[in-house]
Amino acid sequence: MAQEVIKIRGGQTLKGEVNNHGAKNSAVAIIPAAILAEDKVTIEGLPEISDVETLVSLLGDLNIKTELDGMTLNVDPNEIENAPLPNNKVESLRASYYMMGAMLGRFKKCVIGLPGGCPLGPRPIDQHIKGFKALGAKIDESSTTSMKIEADKLVGANIFLDIVSVGATINIMLAAVRAEGQTVIENAAKEPEVVDVANFLSSLGANIKGAGTSTIKINGVEHLHGSHHQVIPDRIEAGTYMCIAAACGENIKINNIIPTHVEPLTVKLKELGVDIQVNDDSAVIKRSTPYSSVDIKTLVYPGFATDLQQPITPLLFMADGVSFVTETIYPARFRHVDELKNMGANISADNGTATIKPSSLTGAEVYASDLRAGACLIVAGLLAEGVTTIYNVKHIYRGYTNIVSTLKSLGADIWTEEV
Ligand code: EPU
Repeated sequence: MAQEVIKIRGGQTLKGEVNNHGAKNSAVAIIPAAILAEDKVTIEGLPEISDVETLVSLLGDLNIKTELDGMTLNVDPNEIENAPLPNNKVESLRASYYMMGAMLGRFKKCVIGLPGGCPLGPRPIDQHIKGFKALGAKIDESSTTSMKIEADKLVGANIFLDIVSVGATINIMLAAVRAEGQTVIENAAKEPEVVDVANFLSSLGANIKGAGTSTIKINGVEHLHGSHHQVIPDRIEAGTYMCIAAACGENIKINNIIPTHVEPLTVKLKELGVDIQVNDDSAVIKRSTPYSSVDIKTLVYPGFATDLQQPITPLLFMADGVSFVTETIYPARFRHVDELKNMGANISADNGTATIKPSSLTGAEVYASDLRAGACLIVAGLLAEGVTTIYNVKHIYRGYTNIVSTLKSLGADIWTEEV
């Protein structure tokens, strides 16, 4: 069967502007969250990615009327029906787990396939389940392909997360906003996307306090109305283009950023020696080698994002010494390492830490094992001498809006081919 590959002839200097899109990891929670509304919802500033299309199609399976026009989604839930969702759409992305919390909150019951997503090593959802159970739900996990979650009624509870989890924090908020009484989530994730989802739910009439801190308090309400919401800018998409600019850019301007959200990355880029100027809602970056080696440790927000660990790695080949990248969120998130070795990189990974030495890259045939590994290979391909062919690009399209045409507009020699 024919499949699309991305090809890059590296070595070009890139110039121009990039308009950053809405945050994927907000969008993929806010679309399911719209199930909780009893009237029309408009969501603006969505990224144009396949994960958004899949979730919109899942809303359709619940008889919700949707209109997706570029970055704007209109949702009319007036004829919503509870239908089982044990299908291959659910399995094609991780964030389909938000359908669980949203459907539980809306119907007190759902039957849903198990979530898929990027293979980053074990990705359990025990904390989500612990939260649903605390609110009064019973979970039937006897099927190997789907899960049945059901509650006579949902009653607020105190939930202490054993692990700081973005997904569990958001999913419990979704299930709790229409529960009876107060829910308190302790050790909650503080990521900007959690705050964005809480703001969306508040715009529907939910009562949520403390999003963005480690204690979130939700006072359940009976009904949620419609609203308009603008998704926050994507700190990971912006960060990826910042890495690209530092690799081969000449004054690339990245528009639509929230500087505090990208600060963990800008601080690291400055440590490397990257010439970066941050304005109110944009950043201008240029390649300014030689870079200094740095050590990076991924942490929950506001630490260095795990999702940027892979895209920043090619910059470390341009440094004057040995760098270390330690992954604490997904210790197995190193499937890009073998691909980079194929490109001639001096890199190894062991026990959750990658050791990265100065290297020159050569184009090769490489495989995008997951979304951010794909982004890493794009940065590497832009730097490499010769042509790089990236296979399995469906992962890249799950998270980056029009990345090939955007890079082409900056002057990259990049194209797609059917093979
Ligand atoms: N974890 C558990 N049990 C749970 C939930 C999480 O053990 O019930 C563990 C995970 O295995 C991981 C850690 O806790 O080791 C943190 O996971 P988290 O739940 O925060 O991750 P997630 O919600 O599944 C989201 C993003 C990821 C991003 C992580 C960390 C979405 C759809 N995905 O995943 O994004 O890496 O938070 O910030 O929001 C990506 O965009 O490429 C991506 C993978």
